[in-house]
Order: sequence, then structure tokens, then C-alpha cells
Amino acid sequence: MKIGVINAGNIGSRLAKAWVLAGHEVMVSKDGERAKLQPLLAQLGDKALVGELEEAAQFSDVLLFSVYWLRFEQVIDRLGSLEGKIIIDTMNPLKVNEAFEHYHDLDFMQSSSTSEELQQRLPSAKVVKAFSTIPFHLLDKDVWQGSQMLPSVFFAGDDTEAKKVVAQLIQDAGFPSIDAGSLKKARLLESMGVLLHNIAEARNDSALNLAPTFVSPAN
Ligand SMILES: NC(=O)c1ccc[n+]([C@@H]2O[C@H](COP(=O)([O-])OP(=O)(O)OC[C@H]3O[C@@H](n4cnc5c(N)ncnc54)[C@H](OP(=O)(O)O)[C@@H]3O)[C@@H](O)[C@H]2O)c1
Repeated sequence: MKIGVINAGNIGSRLAKAWVLAGHEVMVSKDGERAKLQPLLAQLGDKALVGELEEAAQFSDVLLFSVYWLRFEQVIDRLGSLEGKIIIDTMNPLKVNEAFEHYHDLDFMQSSSTSEELQQRLPSAKVVKAFSTIPFHLLDKDVWQGSQMLPSVFFAGDDTEAKKVVAQLIQDAGFPSIDAGSLKKARLLESMGVLLHNIAEARNDSALNLAPTFVSPAN
């Protein structure tokens, strides 16, 4: 399968590596400082292609849309309609205040989700929410080596065929997949992400220690 990665940051770089290993054709791209792709490209060698955001979008059957929420408008404006493509949305509605502190936009979350916004902007694409509830460190299968358990990756969307593809890609990345329902359920998945984040902060703990919260036996 041809997978475009927008963008290969914390989450995107880990999934790009896993999908290359699983035999997919992957094109990575970077929103922001492109030099930051170098460590990933050094690891992937000629196993992955690299391009601009537009090129990754054009190349793909499936597009990982993993951008900083505040950059959503700038990025989406560059991509065209993405007609018929499957779009995997990992985003959480993270904003920044005047003191440059990040916060989750709870007002926005009352009545929408990043996935629904994405679907509205790309009506002829098939948006599926996934990978949004797991801290990025844990999306590296190597972290789980020797463990009897793996974190489950929840996904939500309205297109049945697109969801089947995404469920397979979650498994190809090394994780069990759980269907959370329609795209509107992305609101709940985003709330779940905020809850986990808040628990980690309250415990002044590493997000890594939240791992046992959502785990399934490894096969
Ligand atoms: N990280 C997680 O554990 C996690 C978990 C669940 C969901 N998500 C969501 O998944 C999406 C991708 O997350 P990621 O961690 O993989 O992001 P990332 O790729 O590491 O960063 C995304 C983009 O936003 C820019 N950016 C990051 N922080 C910024 C800031 N404070 N001010 C301005 N620009 C900033 C980065 O630019 P530069 O690279 O040039 O700095 C990059 O272009 C986000 O919507 C995030 O909310 C993340």
C-alpha cells in the first residue's frame, strides 16, 4: 500500500518506520523544519521516499495526517481535495495560550473533533481517527519487546472499507486495533487522550507509566 506521512514527527516517524518494515511503500514529509527528518532518513535509507507535503499527499492511497492542530489550516490548504483517499487523523485539539503554555481546547471538544473538521474540509476523502490516545514513545513496537501486553489502538470512522484498511495498518504497526465506532466517536477518543494526559500530569509521572491503562495480550 502507498502511504504518505504528513508529518513525520514524533508519531509519524515511528509509524513510517513500522510500515516500511511491514512492506508498505512510504513517502515521508515534514511540516516545519525539514532538517529534522534526517535521523529518520538515516535509519530508513532507501526504504522510504521523501517529499514535500503535497507530494506525500499525491503519492498516497492512505495519508497519515499527524500535524500540530494550530498548523491545521496552513497544511490543509496545500493538499487539494484528496478525493477517495483514506486519511488517518492522529491529532488532538492542542492550543497555546499567551504564556506559551499548551492546553486542550475543551470548548471546541464540546461540539466537534479534529477528525470531523478534517472530514468537513475534505468531503470526498475518508477520514479515520487513530493513534491519538497513545503517547508517541509507546508507538514503537521495540519498547514492548518481551512484554506479554500491548496497548490497543482505537480507531473511529464512517467508511467501513476505510476502517478495515486502517485496522490492518494498526496491526501492521504492531498493535491490536479496536473499532470505537463512527467518526463522531473521535470526540470521545480525543477526550480520552486529554484524560490520560491529565492523569500523567497529576501523577507527575512519565506518560510511559500510563501504558498499562489500555493493553491487550500480545499474540
Ligand atoms: N506526541 C504525542 O504523544 C501525541 C499523542 C497523541 C496525539 N498526538 C497528536 O498528533 C499530532 C502530531 O503529534 P507529534 O507529537 O507527532 O507532533 P510533531 O510532528 O512532533 O510536531 C508537529 C508539527 O508541529 C510543529 N510544532 C510542534 N510543537 C510546536 C509548537 N509548540 N509551536 C509551533 N509548532 C510546533 C512541529 O514543528 P517542528 O518539528 O519544526 O518543531 C511540527 O511541524 C498532534 O496533533 C498531536 O496533538 C500526539
